Amino acid sequence: MGALLRSLQGKRIAIVVGSGGVGKTSVAAAIALSRAMAGGRALVCTIDPARRLATALGLGTLGNAEALVPPEAFTRAGLASTGQLFAMMLDVKRTWDDLVTRHAPDAATRDRILGNRIYQQVSGALAGSQEYMAMEKLYELSTERDYDLIVLDTPPTAHALDFLEAPDRILDFVGNETARKLFAPALDAGRFGARLLQVGTGFVAKTLSRFTGSDVLSDVGDFLGQFQGMYDGFKERATEVRSLLTRPEVGFVLVASPSPLSVDEALFFHDHLRTAGMPVAGSVANRVTPDLWPFPGPTPGASPLAEALAAGPGSGGADGGLDLAERLSLALSQHQSFAHSDAREVERLRRGASGPHVAVPRLEGDVHDLAGLAALAAHL
Ligand SMILES: Nc1ncnc2c1ncn2[C@@H]1O[C@H](COP(=O)(O)OP(=O)(O)OP(=O)(O)O)[C@@H](O)[C@H]1O
Ligand SMILES: [Mg+2]
Repeated sequence: MGALLRSLQGKRIAIVVGSGGVGKTSVAAAIALSRAMAGGRALVCTIDPARRLATALGLGTLGNAEALVPPEAFTRAGLASTGQLFAMMLDVKRTWDDLVTRHAPDAATRDRILGNRIYQQVSGALAGSQEYMAMEKLYELSTERDYDLIVLDTPPTAHALDFLEAPDRILDFVGNETARKLFAPALDAGRFGARLLQVGTGFVAKTLSRFTGSDVLSDVGDFLGQFQGMYDGFKERATEVRSLLTRPEVGFVLVASPSPLSVDEALFFHDHLRTAGMPVAGSVANRVTPDLWPFPGPTPGASPLAEALAAGPGSGGADGGLDLAERLSLALSQHQSFAHSDAREVERLRRGASGPHVAVPRLEGDVHDLAGLAALAAHL
């Protein structure tokens, strides 16, 4: 077992963070898979997994439902598992609905909010909504289910820090001041619509007013009013969610690609986690270009390569070999320059982040099935 997986052994929750496209979903699923293969009951909560991976995990379109990856899928992939792997896809809208249902003082208020058009429009689209709902879902799963390990994938935010700031933003929102600002355009549009109504009786004005007229204004008012009543409940819940993230049973896994920007961001996030008292379980540099020439001295030039090619089996002599050798030599030296710059970034991440660090090479082909996840897990 690799260093990262060992560091996660005592954990009940792993949260995989990193900037967009670095491999969070793949790493999260690979971590859960290895816990299942080691005999545990593991759940990976994914966010927007690539379709092929979703299919491999048996995820259809059902939002928020935890599904057992069938044991046959392991057998088909040539893997032996003594535990159970569950997977789910976070459904942001549903999670919001559940949250509203939990906090609404009565059924009438609940139905009024859930049926409110403004709520329906904004609940999935608010900035930070996906991040916060991911945490909310995690809290629910960790308190209401008995998995040995829950692995939370996080949304493809441009900045990993958005994830930590999400609760404050949502609280701000339901706390109203920001919401008013947020809705200023909608309210303006309402006035605009009203003005149009006064001025014109044309088709456009009529149509517009249907969307921007007094109905919308009252929906906005209603929405803000209802939410205000739930603010304390929301706040309490957000505080609990936040405190969950600081418990020792939680481990954050930082994922970065070996690029300066991605490593900078991972280190920045790392420092924030530390400051906030959130436990870092380790870091992963993903899709690292492997070193193909681990010998002292430069990569070989065209002529030694041509000689080697000529001497090789089935070469048919050196004819035409020089051209091939030149291209090979160039490709090798370019590859090595990528490998060296990747190695520098891997080292920077290793030095800057606490906990074990692992480097995962760029694997052949995407990580889109159980066998691919197992191949990735072997490096963790
Ligand atoms: N080590 C690897 N080698 C080869 N391909 C990889 C590796 N890790 C991930 N991939 C591929 O890279 C792509 C992006 O990975 P993934 O979806 O896990 O990233 P992500 O961080 O979750 O992205 P997003 O921020 O968009 O959610 C996928 O096609 C995945 O199969
Ligand atoms: Mg992802």
